[in-house]
Amino acid sequence: MLNASTRTAALYDRVRRVIPSIEWPAFADDIEAILDLKRQRNAVILAHNYQTPEIFHCVADIVGDSLALARKAMTAEADVIVLAGVHFMAETAKLLNPQKTVLIPDLRAGCSLADSITAEDIRLLRQRYPGVPIVTYVNTSAEVKAESDICCTSGNAKAVVESLGVPRVIMLPDEYLAQNIAAQTDVQIIAWKGHCEVHERFTPTDIRQLRENHPGVTVLAHPECPPEVVAEADFSGSTAAMSDYVGRQKPARVVLMTECSMSDNVAVEHPEVEFIRPCNLCPHMKRITLANIRAALEQNRHVVTIDPQIAGRARLAVERMLGLADATPLDRFAPASPKVHQ
Ligand code: 13P
Ligand code: SF4
Repeated sequence: MLNASTRTAALYDRVRRVIPSIEWPAFADDIEAILDLKRQRNAVILAHNYQTPEIFHCVADIVGDSLALARKAMTAEADVIVLAGVHFMAETAKLLNPQKTVLIPDLRAGCSLADSITAEDIRLLRQRYPGVPIVTYVNTSAEVKAESDICCTSGNAKAVVESLGVPRVIMLPDEYLAQNIAAQTDVQIIAWKGHCEVHERFTPTDIRQLRENHPGVTVLAHPECPPEVVAEADFSGSTAAMSDYVGRQKPARVVLMTECSMSDNVAVEHPEVEFIRPCNLCPHMKRITLANIRAALEQNRHVVTIDPQIAGRARLAVERMLGLADATPLDRFAPASPKVHQ
């Protein structure tokens, strides 16, 4: 009789460049069970680009950056959505699918940006800057979104800021994203002091050393990196924009200044590109595993709920963003459309 590893051999073929064969038997059982549970429960799995390759390439139905996940969550035809990502992403999916069951496999999958600001902070900012619109990064709680005028992601932040037609906006909570956008627009931006614990650790010295050690390397940096890092990079964009850049430009050597799994996931699709891999791990994204995705589907946990008083206003802020026709990516060097790969 065939074992799970043999039965899932075709899936292993997709990821063999980034997962050693010795590790596959540890994944095969859970992958088979998850594929079966998805059918039984009419469930879809939405996975962020930072999920590990066995999740991203082997069980996910929809993958992408935060913007793509929010957009695709809106049209997901399923009774159950499992969010393989962090809590704010699961909340966004729930806001856009109030009738569906949204599950997050581990409630501890948080985010340093979401933790950096509260709804009360926003109310105080409104008092301090009356009439100045508040643009909130999706990396925030539903309570914070509910106090905001419109949301943005790293893929559309500039377009959102400029869509408001005002000379000054408050953009929070990511100070570096706000500064990186401010460098590209005439709109004056008032920032908050939140930082991504993964991207704040990259430095310009890292980039200089990479260029010295790997001549000709193309450096892509996420806009949650400090502005001095983005300034030294060849391109800056959301995770989807970075993946798209590699696909279009096919650099011989590339380094992605972002979370570690991103390189693995993009490398699977571009075997001809050499990936140099210094990276920082997001401990929150790494809370999600095949084992807890399986448990989420088996035990219907953890169900994401949002207070209806908050949900209505938070949904409006997300829907305003999604309603923008021109949600172009943050893209300093080459215009590109954010890619939703499925
Ligand atoms: P994007 O995928 O939208 O670029 O966001 C990166 C991120 O840090 C999500 O937590
Ligand atoms: Fe939050 Fe940064 Fe982790 Fe994304 S990578 S979830 S922004 S801590």
